[in-house]
Amino acid sequence: MTTTKSATVQYRSQFGLIGLVLLVGLLSACGSDSSNGPILIKFPHVTAPGTPKGLAADRFKMLVEERMPGIVTVEVYPSGQLMNDDDSIDALAFGEVQMIAVSLSKLDRLTKKYQVFDLPFLFVDLAAAERFQSGPAREELLGAVLKSGIRGVGFWHNGMKQFGGPVPITSPEAAEGLKFRIMESDVLQAQILQMGGNPQKMAFGEVYQALQTGAVDAQENTWANTYSSKFYEVQPYLTESNHGYLGYLLAVNEPFWQSLPEDVRQQLQVIIDEVSAWGNDQAKEVNAGALANIIESGRSEIARLNDGERKVWADTMLPVWDTFSDSIGEDLLNAALAAGQQ
Ligand code: LMR
Repeated sequence: MTTTKSATVQYRSQFGLIGLVLLVGLLSACGSDSSNGPILIKFPHVTAPGTPKGLAADRFKMLVEERMPGIVTVEVYPSGQLMNDDDSIDALAFGEVQMIAVSLSKLDRLTKKYQVFDLPFLFVDLAAAERFQSGPAREELLGAVLKSGIRGVGFWHNGMKQFGGPVPITSPEAAEGLKFRIMESDVLQAQILQMGGNPQKMAFGEVYQALQTGAVDAQENTWANTYSSKFYEVQPYLTESNHGYLGYLLAVNEPFWQSLPEDVRQQLQVIIDEVSAWGNDQAKEVNAGALANIIESGRSEIARLNDGERKVWADTMLPVWDTFSDSIGEDLLNAALAAGQQ
């Protein structure tokens, strides 16, 4: 890759992400050459090493370096130490890093297809999301951002999202007037507006401080993220709402991927599939462990939704589904519904 950062930025502002990706593809057409040392996969992500994503990323590194010594090296940068998610999407598209696992919600600016993952109360649990991801829609979903130079190679779960705030958020009315941190997704924005709250899109690394200083009052995230990023220390109430799915597209830079020798690419995909199954199998337990740790800390009170409250929530959120059903597409939405509500 010979493109300099400043040239990249200049071109980016003139022609946008897709034009730049084409340019970068041309410049990197010379391909990966392992004769000068191992092929390097830089893999930045924003969560802590003990989260579902952190564990899977470290296992990917371990297996690649064990099975392909001297051929491929993986550098994992956890906890946002290299860059935030938004920057990592651009960095992946430009080939500055080779692999990322960003929340599907944050790819909203590149495809409307992943909006289906953010529809509140659609997927009842991780198994439901997995049925959808591994069903007939899989290839369409993995290829949804290919035009931006980003190839999906797998789906990783984090967990189901829970609400946190200054009050128990057991009904939509309880959220009225609260400022909520959300991921960069228009569906999540509509969800909070539908609750009467005030949504603020914000990078993950800024959330703890925003809660601590009162820049935002409330947020939604998984138990694993709430525990490992210590949001429970600055949230008097957490509500076990399981109202939405938080999962990742495991993605590679497409010109990099195509430049790999065929056998290397195949071996990497085998490891990716193995690690995805391993990580997804234990995501539920990692979240349960995080919840147990939060309860043990005694720092936040945990509220739970009963069936009646859950029904009120789901009914209140239906207009959000209506707003996004056209942009998601009928076939995809029906496939998600068939898998999601079983
Ligand atoms: C968030 O921003 O809340 C999540 O996407 C963080 C993550 O990667 O799980």
